[in-house]
Amino acid sequence: MKRVIVKSSKKYSIIIGKGLLENTSDHILPILKGNNVYIITDDIVESLYISQLTKSLQRNNLVVHKYVFPNGEKSKNAKNYIDILNDMAQKGISRSDTVIAFGGGVPGDLGGFVAATYLRGIKLIQIPTTLLSAVDSSVGGKTAIDLDKGKNMAGVFYQPDLVICDLSSLNTLSDETLKDGCAEVIKYGILSGGLLFNQLKKPIMKHIESIVYQCVKYKRDIVQKDEHDQDLRQLLNLGHTIGHAIELLSGYKVTHGQAVAKGISVISRISYNLSLCAKHTVDEIDNILTGYGFDLNPMYNPSDLASAIIMDKKRSNDSINLILVEDIGKCIIRKTMMNELEDMIKKAITKVPL
Ligand SMILES: NC(=O)c1ccc[n+]([C@@H]2O[C@H](COP(=O)([O-])OP(=O)(O)OC[C@H]3O[C@@H](n4cnc5c(N)ncnc54)[C@H](O)[C@@H]3O)[C@@H](O)[C@H]2O)c1
Repeated sequence: MKRVIVKSSKKYSIIIGKGLLENTSDHILPILKGNNVYIITDDIVESLYISQLTKSLQRNNLVVHKYVFPNGEKSKNAKNYIDILNDMAQKGISRSDTVIAFGGGVPGDLGGFVAATYLRGIKLIQIPTTLLSAVDSSVGGKTAIDLDKGKNMAGVFYQPDLVICDLSSLNTLSDETLKDGCAEVIKYGILSGGLLFNQLKKPIMKHIESIVYQCVKYKRDIVQKDEHDQDLRQLLNLGHTIGHAIELLSGYKVTHGQAVAKGISVISRISYNLSLCAKHTVDEIDNILTGYGFDLNPMYNPSDLASAIIMDKKRSNDSINLILVEDIGKCIIRKTMMNELEDMIKKAITKVPL
């Protein structure tokens, strides 16, 4: 078992290990105040794991409530958000009680936003059960729901009080969901380099505890320096600007991980064309991504990609911050004019063929 301590606006622990769910109470009792625990999760996670979690809580005389919604991004919506708040109020959940956001990034983001806003904020424990939520969404305090106009458009920064990452739960993930998480892990590998990048050359589950630990530590270090995404935290968007555009253009048929993998590949080509990195760095990045089975074809033409990026919420005025690669383990943030972007993508796709 490993522990990472985050010292941000809230100080909290992230516990990473196998078989933690059965003994959740051992970890959460020290931070609980009230007797009520309100679990927010989806139907798949409920069917697989809720009994382990509730048994552990009930053994310690906690009163367990749950709100279960259909799995998938569509549930990260305003209706579920309001329904949950009303249900909590009806059940008499008080300021001293605790929300457990249990599952992947969808229950994590929605549950986090509920905890942040119910009675102006109550305790929040994140229990991630997907690789993506283990290495990314459960850590760092970004909470959100989607609006009709786009993803994550309403939300707040709200750090959890504890994160419990039971790696045993990753064993039941579908191949596609695991692969989606791998794209984020590869992102961390490129950002941090070193041991993490090398470990990714072997099947991911072989070193899963060490890999999740290193990703979380990398994110922790960034969040401690830039909790509210003003500068350094933008590094975590490596591959995401183009990735989000691909997701949007596909009507979200291309999954987040697949889109990020394509985005990372295009960005490495842009970096090469700007003479920021060597060709072998582009090849190394392609090799690791294709080794995990990612198709790197960006699918859309540069002008459509550039237009979709313009709609991205991270754009500020006529420029955008691109995360570019100098080497494995060395990425930079560079302000780029929107009117240069289409040409950059075009050159990346045509001059450095996939
Ligand atoms: N807050 C952040 O910092 C942050 C960062 C990255 C992504 N996100 C958000 O995360 C979401 C994507 O996360 P996700 O991919 O985990 O999505 P998800 O929560 O929808 O989970 C994906 C699928 O896996 C299933 N699942 C979950 N755990 C399982 C398990 N152990 N075994 C079998 N199936 C399981 C779920 O039921 C779902 O069908 C997006 O909404 C994205 O915006 C947030």
